[in-house]
Amino acid sequence: MKTLITHDIELAKQQLERGEVIGIPTESVYGLGANALHGEAVARIYKLKQRPESNPLILHVENLQKATPYFHEFHDELMRLYEVFCPGPLTFLVPKSNLVPAYITAGSPLVAIRFPSHPLFQALLSALEFPIAAPSANKYGSISATQAEQVRDSFMDEIPLVLDGGTCTFGLESTIVGMKDDAVVVYRLGSIDLDTLAVQLGYIPKLMNQATDSPVAPGMVKFHYAPDTPLFYMDKHLIPQENTGYIFLKDIPNGFPEAQCIALSKDGELKEIGRNLYSVLRAMDKRGYRCLYIERPMEKGLGLTIIDRLNRATAKFSETKK
Ligand code: TXA
Ligand code: MG
Repeated sequence: MKTLITHDIELAKQQLERGEVIGIPTESVYGLGANALHGEAVARIYKLKQRPESNPLILHVENLQKATPYFHEFHDELMRLYEVFCPGPLTFLVPKSNLVPAYITAGSPLVAIRFPSHPLFQALLSALEFPIAAPSANKYGSISATQAEQVRDSFMDEIPLVLDGGTCTFGLESTIVGMKDDAVVVYRLGSIDLDTLAVQLGYIPKLMNQATDSPVAPGMVKFHYAPDTPLFYMDKHLIPQENTGYIFLKDIPNGFPEAQCIALSKDGELKEIGRNLYSVLRAMDKRGYRCLYIERPMEKGLGLTIIDRLNRATAKFSETKK
């Protein structure tokens, strides 16, 4: 099976209706999607991604009305966020209805539902009779894909097609929210930052994304988003070395060999840094350096999401000696 990269929504629709798994663009990162109500298709997602079946999947739906059969409670506070941010990169963890198969939620009574805004995914969802289950389109533990070619690289000839929606505008996964004691809590930092949520809620939602070794917990596993090349945070007094890659937020400082450096943005804006992060990590990983160093962003707004990803990406290597 040769993996096709295409803009053809009709072709994508046909493959999904046939129970195939395909690459789908979203505004956050690319998804590896299939008919959520088709047990074999969903089993294939887990297999392709090499992901433990105990780690549940997000249900992607066109809008709240179409999602109604799949939950039996959607708190008013979540509704406020839905009205402001959806469609968009926000995922809601809510009590599931009986129509959501246990294999989607890994047996949990809660289901994660998301309403993507990417125009191609919206068009696809409006043409389909079923929701789409989709994790990020990368092998388990590695870096998410933000371009169609990257999805094809990871699942070369294992999936029939990738729907090409260009480069993802956010480039970081959706923010996952849920309810605890009648207040909104955040289970995964993502494309919509805490301050932006706080403006709508009138309070800063509590963060409940502690690193865990148990994938059933919402949040995420401890090691994730990692390149193959050992990745470390840069410290201020770093002296450039050979066979090493350096990733800066903005300017490349004097004294660093340009050929070994990449800047994540032109002007240091967090949104641009977030959009480029995964592509730059992938590009640097391909160069085969001995190790990579990355500058740490400010702990503010989207910077918190970026640091969350980098903490998990570097965790794997910081436990071994440099
Ligand atoms: O932006 C995104 O959310 C992307 C695009 C493709 O939509 N999807 C994505 O999916 O990031 P994935 O599977 O890579 O990450 C989803 C996270 C996982 O950490 C999973 O454990 C958690 O959401 N999750 C999904 N369903 C859950 C549930 N029922 N209960 C707790 N956690 C859940
Ligand atoms: Mg993922």
